[in-house]
Amino acid sequence: MAFVKAGSMAKLTPGTMLEFRNGEQQVALCNVGGEIHALDNHCPHRGGPLAQGALHGNMVVCPWHAWEFDCTNGVCDFNAEIVVKRYAVRVEGDDVLVDI
Ligand code: FES
Repeated sequence: MAFVKAGSMAKLTPGTMLEFRNGEQQVALCNVGGEIHALDNHCPHRGGPLAQGALHGNMVVCPWHAWEFDCTNGVCDFNAEIVVKRYAVRVEGDDVLVDI
């Protein structure tokens, strides 16, 4: 486990998402009112890239079939047993660091 730079606050303004790739690993960074959350970028339904979807409040909407996940806990809106993996996040200045 190690924190790596995954993005910059300048590009991750409130209400937006960024995609971070590190080899096979992909992370969706979400800015909800200035608070940063990091989710596995692969939708548990069919693997859609969550960061390429929409962010409505704290809900990430998958771009492929519109399943929604709460980025603060990873839980799917219609089935609490479906949970997207979350990563710890730290912000240092403009750097967004994720523990992958
Ligand atoms: S792949 Fe995300 S909703 Fe189907």
